[in-house]
Amino acid sequence: MKARDRLRIAIQKSGRLAEPARELLARIGLSFRESRDRLFCYGESLPIDLLLVRDDDIPGLIAEGTCDLGIVGRNVLAEQAANRRAAGQPEAYRELRALGFGACRLSIAVPQEQADAPLAALAGRRIATSYPGLLEAFLRARGVDAEVVLLSGSVEIAPRLGKAEAICDLVSTGGTLAANQLRETEVVFESEAVLAGPPAGFDDARAELAALFLRRLDGVLRVRD
Ligand code: PRP
Ligand code: ZN
Ligand code: MG
Repeated sequence: MKARDRLRIAIQKSGRLAEPARELLARIGLSFRESRDRLFCYGESLPIDLLLVRDDDIPGLIAEGTCDLGIVGRNVLAEQAANRRAAGQPEAYRELRALGFGACRLSIAVPQEQADAPLAALAGRRIATSYPGLLEAFLRARGVDAEVVLLSGSVEIAPRLGKAEAICDLVSTGGTLAANQLRETEVVFESEAVLAGPPAGFDDARAELAALFLRRLDGVLRVRD
């Protein structure tokens, strides 16, 4: 691969992690000049640039080498890693640091009036989710044979639409579940924002930049604790 002398970090363009990710990078001492389309930010204080993307694209961008590091939910990283494993593909990214913001959990939820039923009652039922890899692993481990229905969004309305009997989605404040008369019954996966990178290091100038970035990040994370 062509040697690169600038480090490229992918972050969410808009959404829950976008602001805190920018704040963290500022705290690390990075400053940027934004392009007009706000997709690329050129690093001014250090040769570290930003790419502003959809969070779901971040693991793939790291896997293909388009970006060197990324700030993304552990849920997204773990889901895509599970899918790669299932497809027999090699590991292509790993979690380098937990960042201490964006905490949420991937949980199973059911209509409020069924909230007292045990997990086993979902056998033979449909569970709608955008996280089939994590959900299937959880169901397998618990020995529950439910049908996983893949939905890319608006998972919380699936029960009312008759598409599923339960859902498995991210819960942060719980507001979305409450608004849809759903109750959380099982936590499938605990998540927060993480720094992700390739499984192996870099073999050009990016190695030193990544080490510098991690040193500064660790300093900022220590102060936070
Ligand atoms: C997640 C999830 C719920 C919501 C839950 O979506 O899908 O819709 O957050 O949060 P709450 O418990 O605070 O109500 P999010 O907006 O993160 O992203 P999405 O567009 O990928 O669904
Ligand atoms: Zn998303
Ligand atoms: Mg949502």
